[in-house]
Amino acid sequence: MNITKKIVKNLTHKDIYEYELSNDKNLCCTISNYGSTLLSLYLKTSKGELRNIALGFEDFSTYINNSLYVGATLGPNAGRLANGNLPISDSIYNLSQNDNKNNLHGGFNNVSFKIWNHEKITIADDYISLSFSLDLPHGVDGYPGNRKLSTTFTLNNENKFSIHYEAESDMDTYINLSNHSYFNLSGDLGTSVLAHRLTISASKYLENNEEHVAEKLSSVHDSPFDFITGRTLESQISNYKSHPQLILGKGYNNGFILENTENMDKPALILESPDETITLSLYTNAPSIVLYSGGYIEEGLKLTDGSMSTPSCGLAIEPQDFPNGPNLDFINSSILKKGEIFKRDIIYKLGF
Ligand code: GLA
Repeated sequence: MNITKKIVKNLTHKDIYEYELSNDKNLCCTISNYGSTLLSLYLKTSKGELRNIALGFEDFSTYINNSLYVGATLGPNAGRLANGNLPISDSIYNLSQNDNKNNLHGGFNNVSFKIWNHEKITIADDYISLSFSLDLPHGVDGYPGNRKLSTTFTLNNENKFSIHYEAESDMDTYINLSNHSYFNLSGDLGTSVLAHRLTISASKYLENNEEHVAEKLSSVHDSPFDFITGRTLESQISNYKSHPQLILGKGYNNGFILENTENMDKPALILESPDETITLSLYTNAPSIVLYSGGYIEEGLKLTDGSMSTPSCGLAIEPQDFPNGPNLDFINSSILKKGEIFKRDIIYKLGF
């Protein structure tokens, strides 16, 4: 187990660090306190090749306020809340509108572009972990409560990489933290991810309105959203070329409703590389996963491996509550009560 730390930038008189964590097996990752962000996730394949499977930028400056939210922690709410409305009990909070008239990833002062603090490092026999914390004062972007958030990243010797979130508040509030890493298991970050094979334990998904806000629950049956048995993203896209949701999202940009995953004994999602050498299995206690196949990724951003970004060069996998849940009357969204602790786990198990 090993960890190193270096300064990569100074912003508003605060140091931004890059930490590198490695286990005793085949995994290594880099993480920053800027946005509590995963910068890279490397694995050493059986052929001895070192492969980075998480999209990142070569130049750290590209991360600052990047609209792709590459690798960042999302919060206080991942995704879009319609019209910036947040109903809690009998009140409706008016949130900032940073994406058309909607609130995206918490608003203008979201946690993705904050410098997190108080790192804690734990080195044990079979795992290594790194934690950050962040205070969000009452009223920022319209959300209630003085909130304390934490993120813990862990690598263990079973080649699992995991993210654990906790939060608490001094008022009833809404917390829905996630991570916005884009995965590309191919070994070439600049190429399309659509040839990857995907399996998701979800028989329902959410359709979006024209501003990408989740509105309606639908069955995946007879639709491009059926990944109950594994298939490639591109095979579904070519079978359903004129599906309005795929056109709107330039590919996938929808919430999938997970089945029986909250005790995390089976994977919610499995992603396999086109060369069939790498499998990423995701376990989570979140009720939903938003999948964004990166159709809006702009071209020409220099990536960690020196290649250039192209549309769909990464698949963002965002375990979270039902997107826009607080505004959907067919869903019981969980409000974080004063004094209670929000806990969320996202575990990636790498097979290769
Ligand atoms: C943001 C979200 C993604 C996706 C895109 C589409 O980046 O994080 O999930 O909705 O917008 O514009």
